[in-house]
Amino acid sequence: MPIIEFHMKRILLTGGMTALLLVLSCLVSVPARGQQPNYDESKVPSYTLPDPLVRENGKAVRSRRAWERKRRPELLSLFSDQMFGVVPPAPEGLHFKVVKVVSDAFGGLATMKEVEVCFDADETQSLLLLLFVPNAASGPVPAFLGINFRGNHATTDEPYVSLPSEERMRRYGPDYQCDPRGVQQRRWPYRDILSRGYAVATFYTGDVDPDYHDGFHNGVHGLLDGDKPRTGSSWATISAWAWGLSRALDYLETDPDVDGAKVAVIGHSRLGKTALWAGATDPRFALVISNNSGCGGAALSKRCFGETVGRINQVFPHWFCDNFKQYGGKEDTLPFDQHELLALIAPRPLYVASASEDLWADPHGEYLSLIHAAPVYRLYGEDAVTTPEMPAPGEGRMAGKTAYHLRPGPHDINIYDWSRYMDFADRFLK
Ligand code: GCU
Repeated sequence: MPIIEFHMKRILLTGGMTALLLVLSCLVSVPARGQQPNYDESKVPSYTLPDPLVRENGKAVRSRRAWERKRRPELLSLFSDQMFGVVPPAPEGLHFKVVKVVSDAFGGLATMKEVEVCFDADETQSLLLLLFVPNAASGPVPAFLGINFRGNHATTDEPYVSLPSEERMRRYGPDYQCDPRGVQQRRWPYRDILSRGYAVATFYTGDVDPDYHDGFHNGVHGLLDGDKPRTGSSWATISAWAWGLSRALDYLETDPDVDGAKVAVIGHSRLGKTALWAGATDPRFALVISNNSGCGGAALSKRCFGETVGRINQVFPHWFCDNFKQYGGKEDTLPFDQHELLALIAPRPLYVASASEDLWADPHGEYLSLIHAAPVYRLYGEDAVTTPEMPAPGEGRMAGKTAYHLRPGPHDINIYDWSRYMDFADRFLK
């Protein structure tokens, strides 16, 4: 029973009934939509983070071999079973079709390719990958790959980028509205990325799984799951998007203009959560970037600061697997925390970024998560950010394989973030 409804009823009721309802409301452990999030550091509950280097049987992990053979698989299945749901492998019928090429995109700076990444032999479903490669390159180049929120055409106003077909729009669901071209171009500074020698690729969330709860019938769930009954650890939408990123990488590995061994996966907000999960499940991603990913992404859940596990599962019931729902309001019982998701990316380069006004995503919790992933980097003999104090707005930290910045301003991704990501990527992918 959502508490917000309860408050409305209470106005109409009196006496003993009111008292009874008050007691009942205390038994509801999931914070309701109307409940105020905590933004006060002094009210963060005391918590103990699980040690990424201690196995479930209590044994300490002291070697890379023990990490790779024992602890890493154990953690990966914990996150699969209890949080995101199990990501399936590539489907048998997977194939690619380059459907459009424009060799003088951005006034000659790049070549645009649109590629259908078909999920089945019959081509009933595909994602449309939009790829730009710099024309100045003399060989395969490193690339950034990320999902977009509003359609490929919304990431740029270049007129040759295709609008979604009628058939795709039908699949996006009854409420889909096609945005005007370029509405999110600020988030995709293509010219800057291409000028720095990187390719860049993106696709729309709805091509893999539309972002609303329909009981997992549409999108890739409908295609691949058939009549299989769902369980507590069945994959949900974030796992589907991460799966889509891996399928896009399957294509990029075959593209002669892209260096498939140097693909950075990037995502903002819910798609930052997705980028982290893709980086954890698919070790082919050479570098991972989480921009303002917050709860369920980089932020520590046990801090219960800003968005909480209870609230995210209530408002977005399709993002995580059903088993994750049991931890709403009971974050202290979580057998893992998000620093261990970050640790699954080690020893690959990892960049986590927050925005100073984005308290909902808990910048401090995102920073703490990064520094608590450091022991796994250390196990590989790699340096990583460990400074306990988080940087001030406008500052960042970079040490060895990990980096962080706190952009002044609200929840967003823009050239401030991208410039830093490219500086970091230059060190590993060039
Ligand atoms: C909501 C949600 C966040 C998410 C964000 C986004 O604010 O609560 O968890 O990161 O949407 O994806 O923009």
